[in-house]
Amino acid sequence: MSSDIRHEKLKKWVQETAQRCQPDEIYWCDGSKAEYDMMMKRSVDAGSAIPVAKRPNSFLFRSDPSDVARVEDRTYISTTNEIDAGPTNNWIDPDELKTIMKGLYAGCMKGRTMYVIPFSMGPVGSPIAKIGIEITDSPYVVCNMHTMTRVGARVLEVLGTHGEFIPCLHSIGAPLETGQKDVPWPCAPMDKKYISHFPEENLIWSYGSGYGGNALLGKKCLALRIASAMARREGWMAEHMLILRLTNPQGKQYHIAAAFPSACGKTNLAMLQPTIEGWKCETIGDDIAWMKIGPDGRVYAINPEAGFFGVAPGTSYESNPMAMESLHENIIFTNCALTDDGDMWWEEMDGDPPAHAIDWKGRDWTPSSKEPAAHPNARFTAPASQCPVICEDWEKPEGVPIDIFIFGGRRAGVVPLVNEAFDWAHGVFLGATASSETTAANIGDIGNLRRDPFAMKPFCGYNMGDYFRHWLEMGERLGDKAPKIFYVNWFRKSPEGKFLWPGFGDNSRVLKWMCERIDGTLGARETPIGLLPKEGELDLSGLDISSENMDELLKVDRDAWRAEIPNLEEHFAQFGERLPGKMREQMDNLKKRLG
Ligand code: GTP
Ligand code: SPV
Ligand code: MN
Repeated sequence: MSSDIRHEKLKKWVQETAQRCQPDEIYWCDGSKAEYDMMMKRSVDAGSAIPVAKRPNSFLFRSDPSDVARVEDRTYISTTNEIDAGPTNNWIDPDELKTIMKGLYAGCMKGRTMYVIPFSMGPVGSPIAKIGIEITDSPYVVCNMHTMTRVGARVLEVLGTHGEFIPCLHSIGAPLETGQKDVPWPCAPMDKKYISHFPEENLIWSYGSGYGGNALLGKKCLALRIASAMARREGWMAEHMLILRLTNPQGKQYHIAAAFPSACGKTNLAMLQPTIEGWKCETIGDDIAWMKIGPDGRVYAINPEAGFFGVAPGTSYESNPMAMESLHENIIFTNCALTDDGDMWWEEMDGDPPAHAIDWKGRDWTPSSKEPAAHPNARFTAPASQCPVICEDWEKPEGVPIDIFIFGGRRAGVVPLVNEAFDWAHGVFLGATASSETTAANIGDIGNLRRDPFAMKPFCGYNMGDYFRHWLEMGERLGDKAPKIFYVNWFRKSPEGKFLWPGFGDNSRVLKWMCERIDGTLGARETPIGLLPKEGELDLSGLDISSENMDELLKVDRDAWRAEIPNLEEHFAQFGERLPGKMREQMDNLKKRLG
């Protein structure tokens, strides 16, 4: 196939990369079913994939126990000046980082095949879509990219002879010497892993990990880190947001985009089954939104991905039936448990746990085992088209007009169930100060409270202070057509550590309140932190929840909020001169309102 490649720059990049990485062969991916099947067969034969008997064309991969999630500590934004990466990113000088990585890449694909994957983020040929070419030595990555992006010959056609593409170089960093036996999940040790971004030249270099966002470079690396930097230069937005369409009983549609940190509920909210009469929810995307201002002055969102790379544990018919219904066939499971009858299992799946299973490390597991059967960051890779509630417009090239932005996080205390921003600048302040307890989606401490502005702390490809400014500027351009901004917290807990809010399908009650607020049919209660539902105005019909729990969920405790101020000040201080004056102003106003 390489002889048909008419794009000289692409050909040259592939040749140079092959010279450096020294693979045994080069394979150009065409995105076909035959190619996927062949890749899976190779993986099964090599002992790195296990067919899941109960689910047609589905396979289980078990990663190396050290390679189970994104590695934020090893993720770099490499700009000429350190200040342009900003205080929330790791930085190494581009020349220095390239020298280190060239050393690692030298001969790194020995004994392996180098796959060249042409892919499109967004429908192929759409004016909002971007083309990437991922070079990888991992068949697992090839198969996942087939599901998560649009791969194939059509992409090369659109690219033509001079089209622009984003080069994404990936290696698992585990060359094979002649005669050396391979392992099921080859990867490099932690101190050799680098997930590097060069936003000034739209370039991605990833080394040493085969997992998720570290390796499927279209996702966090391209569609968020590189795209966010492009979006700022070009006046659009690339956000860590789900997109959904909500339809009320009268048939009125609302489009909502919501940013929650990793493993904090995006996939679940995107596939929500409303528990309130007559309301309908359809999924457009579950992780990333690209948004542009349309000819009518409103902001339009597309989902650049083609699949879901979803958190498995916690997913059940009870919590997320539409995700469960998406998983019957054509799925890649990673680090889930294998049952004796050849099916998948993970913690909190419906029904009783199996009496025996093989855990994610390949060991015998029973309900009395001390460790979970599936890794907490175990994932499923599913084609979006298999979701029963996928919206008919999910691939519409111009996207859907957004009415509501939601920010949020995982907070056991202080932050109420919902509040509405007073205006755009206050909404940007809510996004800029968002906080959440860390999860298993990153390798590091779990349950630590941190500021995760706009759920973009690990994904913003430039200085976060400039990112706040970009949001303020987008608001100015949108004027009275700007979506309304809300903040939610589904994760408030009782002193005994129980969730106070039922969550999942019942989150529709909170979304309904938002829709009624933007329609102007409901008032709100003004508090120092924003606008909250008035007594009795959140639809709780048919819900069995105590009034004490509701009081707690909708309480604004001034003392607890005052106690947040020093941490907020510290958070803002790190941005120095790059913190927009308007954010400073918002902080002063909050302090005044809290008294
Ligand atoms: P990434 O794919 O990492 O970006 O995660 P995500 O934001 O899509 O998170 P996801 O929807 O997969 O949810 C992660 C975890 O949070 C799962 O274990 C869910 O069961 C749990 N969760 C999601 N929504 C709710 C909710 O409304 N209430 C409670 N209590 N838990 C929830
Ligand atoms: C996240 O961590 O936010 C994810 C999973 O969506 S990964 O693709 O690994 O980034
Ligand atoms: Mn995510």
